[in-house]
Amino acid sequence: MVTGAAGFIGSTLAERLVLEGHEVIGIDSLTDYYPVATKEANLGRLRQSGAFSLHVVDLATAELASLVEGADLVFHLAGQPGVRLSWAEGFALYETRNVLATQRLLEAVARAPGPRPRLIYSSSSSVYGIDANHPTSESDPTRPHSPYGVTKLAGEHLCHAYRQNWDVDVLTLRYFTVYGPRQRPDMAFHRLIEAGLTGESFEVYGDGEQVRDFTYVDDVVEANLRCVPSAVPAGSVFNVAGGAESSLNEVIETISDLLGRKVALDRRPPQAGDVRRTGASTKLLEHATGWRPAVASARAGLERQVAWHLARQP
Ligand code: UGA
Repeated sequence: MVTGAAGFIGSTLAERLVLEGHEVIGIDSLTDYYPVATKEANLGRLRQSGAFSLHVVDLATAELASLVEGADLVFHLAGQPGVRLSWAEGFALYETRNVLATQRLLEAVARAPGPRPRLIYSSSSSVYGIDANHPTSESDPTRPHSPYGVTKLAGEHLCHAYRQNWDVDVLTLRYFTVYGPRQRPDMAFHRLIEAGLTGESFEVYGDGEQVRDFTYVDDVVEANLRCVPSAVPAGSVFNVAGGAESSLNEVIETISDLLGRKVALDRRPPQAGDVRRTGASTKLLEHATGWRPAVASARAGLERQVAWHLARQP
C-alpha cells in the first residue's frame, strides 16, 4: 500500500514497486493543494498497469481496516506538505492530514488481523528546526521551526507510541528537500524551471543564500525499499539526504545554465518557517542498509528534472 500515491514521491515509488512485480494499492484523496490534473498525470503510467489500483479515500475519515487488511507493507507518504503555508488558518489542514490521518492509519495497522504490515513513515527534515548541528544526525534535537514541522514530528511520535504500546512494526525516514521529475509545483526547483521556460519571474524568498541538502527522488524511493527487510529494525529513524548542499543562488545559476537563459528574479522577504540551512549525516541509513545517494550532485538531478519539464511543455 502506498498512501499519497498520486503525489510526487508516492507515484514514483508506486511505479518502481509495480516495475519490480509487486501489486500496489494506491491511496490518495486527490486534495486540491495543487492541480488534480497534475496528480492525474503522475498516475498516468500506473493506471495502465493491472497491478495497480487506486482508492480515492481520505485517511482522516475513511474506514481503513479493509484497505490495510492483506497489505504486506504500508508506505505512508500522504500528507499536507509545504512549510510556508502552515501558519494561521492553514494549520488546520496540516493537523488533519498529517497528524489525524497518520494516527488513523496506525490504528488500522495495529488492529489488522493476521500478520500486520510494516509501516514506513515519511517524515521531514523540518522536524529539526534551527537548533540542530551540521551535519544533522538523527539524535540531534527536534524543535521544528514551522507548524508543518510540528505536525510531521507529531506523526513520528505517534509511530513511536503505536510501536511501544501495540508493537506496530514502524520506521521513519526524514527526507531532505526532494527534487526531480514530478516535483510539486509549490517547490523551488519546479517554479524556477517553469519561470525560465515561460519568461515569468521567480520569487526568491530572502537573499537566496539559504542552503538545502537537496535529495533526488529516486534516492528517496530506494531508501524506502532498503527499509523493507525485517533485518532493518523497527523503530529506526533515518535521514535521507542527497549529500550535496547547495544554496538557492547556486541552483538558480545551474538552472539558468541548463536552460541557456537567465531566469528573471523577483526578490521577496524571507518567509516565516523557512530554515537557513539543512544538511544531513546519512551514515545511520548507510550502516543499516547500504544506502547511498546515487544522484549526489544537484546538477545531474536537475538535468533530469529540466528534461521532464520540457517534455510536458504544451
Ligand atoms: C521542502 C518541502 O516543500 C517540504 O514539504 C519538505 O518537508 C521539506 O522540503 C523537507 O526537507 O522536509 P523546502 O526546503 O522549503 O521544503 O523546499 P522548497 O520549497 O523547494 O524551497 C527551497 C528554498 O527555496 C526555501 O528556502 C524557499 O524559501 C525557497 N523558495 C521556494 C523560494 O525562494 N521561492 C519559491 O517560490 C519557493
